[in-house]
Amino acid sequence: MRFVNISVIFLLLGACIVSCGDDSRFDEEIVMPGQGGDDPTTEEPKPTQSERSELYRPQIHYTPAANWVNDPNGMVYADGVWHLCYQYNPLGNDWGNLSWGHATSRDLVHWEEQPVVLTPDELGMIFSGSAVVDHNNTAGFGAGAIVAFYTSAGTHQQQSIAYSTDGMQTMTKFAGNPVLANTSMPDFRDPKVMWHEPTKQWVMSLAKGWAYEIEFYGSQDLKSWRKLSTFTTTVGRCNRGQWECPDLFPLTLNGEERWVLIVSVNPGGYMGGSGTMYFIGQFDGTTFTADPLAYPLWLDYGTDNYAGVTWSDAPNGRKVYLGWMNNWQYCGASPTQNYRSAFTLPRELSLIEHQGKPLLASRVVSEISAIAGEEREVANGELDNHAAYRLEITIDAKQNKQWSLANEAGECIDFRYVASSGTLMMTRDSRSGCHDFSGEFTRPSISAPVNQPGDTITFEIYVDQSSVEVLTSSGSMAITALVYPTGGTYTKLLPEGIPAKICPLQSIWI
Ligand code: FRU
Repeated sequence: MRFVNISVIFLLLGACIVSCGDDSRFDEEIVMPGQGGDDPTTEEPKPTQSERSELYRPQIHYTPAANWVNDPNGMVYADGVWHLCYQYNPLGNDWGNLSWGHATSRDLVHWEEQPVVLTPDELGMIFSGSAVVDHNNTAGFGAGAIVAFYTSAGTHQQQSIAYSTDGMQTMTKFAGNPVLANTSMPDFRDPKVMWHEPTKQWVMSLAKGWAYEIEFYGSQDLKSWRKLSTFTTTVGRCNRGQWECPDLFPLTLNGEERWVLIVSVNPGGYMGGSGTMYFIGQFDGTTFTADPLAYPLWLDYGTDNYAGVTWSDAPNGRKVYLGWMNNWQYCGASPTQNYRSAFTLPRELSLIEHQGKPLLASRVVSEISAIAGEEREVANGELDNHAAYRLEITIDAKQNKQWSLANEAGECIDFRYVASSGTLMMTRDSRSGCHDFSGEFTRPSISAPVNQPGDTITFEIYVDQSSVEVLTSSGSMAITALVYPTGGTYTKLLPEGIPAKICPLQSIWI
């Protein structure tokens, strides 16, 4: 399969010069349906499926056929369908006109783009949020209705709800919006709602941006909310950027329930710019109390995993996570053509123990096997020209090791395992591919603690057309990084002779 068209390369290389704003992203004028001739409900002609083969277009990660994307939203599993909504600009390739795009999957791997479900209104743009299945009809929209929570971002950020009784094909906004009004706080957004069985109430987590706070609210009917508590931390390293997109959920460790609170922070992430941290502790239905651990703990040590949360109502209590695979430092300048931004591969979260301390582990969901071809040993460093692939490299934990992924054009990324510190280093520098579209993009030294005992370490490296995701097989460490190799995916493992296994991953678009 050939993904690279030379004329497109030159066009995109020429486009590698734009720069990306930061908080000014919220200053945009709101375009409302029916105003100014630009109606976000009138969808632009979509590129054909063949345009899903444009340069850099992910082949094993979902992207809508066209336009701008940021955070995953409204993630809920209902009637055998994984729903993925997301921050979406139906009118173009830049942040703006924030609506909820929608895609569905039955296997977490193959996705089908659906019509946009929520568009801006007189309360503002539709910012990030979540969705639940209201099995017991607590809200009165019908038993089994899907109820979505989002931030109406207008003059102020306020919380609104919408519901669907047709499997999210359409969503009706609640007439009493906003359900949680705000006229004073500058940042108050990203509602994530869960059912708390012991106290028989819905609990909403909300982020307060530059106040470095998460607020919790409780409700019986999803419409009236009362404040429960506020979580914050005095650890300064956690407070170098605004707090966004919280997610609170329980997991089990050694048979005991522990609560995890995910908080995205921007800037001030582990690698600068956007990053995702988490806290582990207890939640009693009112207050979240973090265990005394060495915060911040990072869910991902790479540059491009932000604003991620988990699906509601996933079967068997699974906690399946998806992040936005980009960074506010340079997202607006990403050198892509029809689409802009994808999501990480879905990852199963669990708690594991390392050196007597709990850690949040991420592993790519086992459903990925649906597109896996036959695994084979790599010979002579040849990785072939697959749409995407998984490389498995097992090393001796006590020996330093170095390897590189390279393509025909000589573009490459290097890995270095440093045994003395148990650290994996990765380069994303000027040699990785297109990089000069933003001064913030190159990272000569991404470094991550492997967080794993034992004599050997196995790294699973998922390579797509414009991303690399490195995870230990235990899930103890993850590095997600965008790369834009102009000469196609990396097809060589160097030096030749490094023992490794390659498993081709078939494009999800064919
Ligand atoms: C996180 C975020 C959210 C907000 C959305 C706006 O990336 O800033 O806090 O709801 O993006 O698009």
